[in-house]
Amino acid sequence: MSDFLPYGRQWIDDEDIAAVARVLRSDFLTSGPEVDAFEKEFAAMTGSAHAIAFANATAALHAAVHVAGIGPGDRVITSPNTFLSSANCAAFVGATPDFADIDPVTHNLDPAALEAMWTDDVKAVVPVAFGGQPADMPRIAKIARAHGAVVIEDASHATGGGFFREGKAWKTGNHPWAEMTVFSFHPVKTMTTGEGGMLVTSDGEFARKARLFRSHGVERDAARFEGFGVDGGPLAEVGPWVYEMHDLGHNHRITDIQCALGRTQLAKLPCFIERRREIVATYNNAFADLPWLETPGLGVIEDRDHISWHLYTVEIDFPALGRSRSDVMAALRCRGVGSQVLYIPVHLQPWYRRTYGYCPGKCPVAEKYYTRCLSLPLHPSLTAGDVARVIAAVRELGGA
Ligand SMILES: Cc1ncc(COP(=O)(O)O)c(C=O)c1O
Repeated sequence: MSDFLPYGRQWIDDEDIAAVARVLRSDFLTSGPEVDAFEKEFAAMTGSAHAIAFANATAALHAAVHVAGIGPGDRVITSPNTFLSSANCAAFVGATPDFADIDPVTHNLDPAALEAMWTDDVKAVVPVAFGGQPADMPRIAKIARAHGAVVIEDASHATGGGFFREGKAWKTGNHPWAEMTVFSFHPVKTMTTGEGGMLVTSDGEFARKARLFRSHGVERDAARFEGFGVDGGPLAEVGPWVYEMHDLGHNHRITDIQCALGRTQLAKLPCFIERRREIVATYNNAFADLPWLETPGLGVIEDRDHISWHLYTVEIDFPALGRSRSDVMAALRCRGVGSQVLYIPVHLQPWYRRTYGYCPGKCPVAEKYYTRCLSLPLHPSLTAGDVARVIAAVRELGGA
């Protein structure tokens, strides 16, 4: 393995490889018993009533907005500081994705900005747990519910995490401030299935509809059949081959191969998160005295012990440092240290400007944050020596 340290990377061991090999030797390559087992184990981990696995988190977000009944004429508000999918899911169903600015400390959707831009056509809010830190879910849910809108938490960065609020520890995926929660298992995330995602909910109807949507809208439960045989005759026979299409769904299915990997990864998730927390604490201490760098802020979160850090993103005052971001990234790369810029504000993407007329200045806090942010390596496979190397490379940028 090269000694280059990427900003994010998976941890795969022999147990993961054996689990995938076992499925490759089995009868099921697409959806089979591993999908069911992974869903059950994931539901138990989060404490949620229903977990539905998808081909990726983008597909799970698509399902969430669909089953929430969002469509043309509706508006969905999310954070501009996110990956494209948090907003695109609204466009997939013909609704208008819109953006409320972020909180300057947590870089998550700012409830005050959300409230200030509310219009009657807003039917869903998609708060994103940026880097693993949850948004101010109680305040966001209060605003949404006052208007009858649904909250779909995009916890793609926060698998295995939670937060402490109102005197209690809550698990992401099982708290009273979201109707549905979505997770991603892309390799840079806190656990991986290669590609993969999960939707969790306590609402049985949302869960049932999400399962239909995942696989062409096909219903196989005979008790729910509408029947072809209204006119009688041979078409009315309900044999074991019969399935009915009840909705216009997709092929958003995940495979048994991926879910076998998901199960062995899930078993290691607590260790992954523990190591991520240790590295974050080490970085925070090491960078505390640098006047040109800000470590991640906590905002309303009452303690750090529940966050499942996906990213370690600092803010750098590049003018004060006297170096551009490209120059800083190149200098880090020369020391074998990868870095990444997360995120380009989604409303500034050409398609969003062209389609919805969004312009610079719409979300000034997110736009300013974009000019200052840099994500440094954070993954469980970093050794103490790797962490020391990242710290030395960052401190050297300012001659420290
Ligand atoms: C916040 C957020 N939401 C959604 C997604 C989409 O996840 P996936 O790649 O599993 O579709 C990502 C992926 O990077 C993400 O970071």
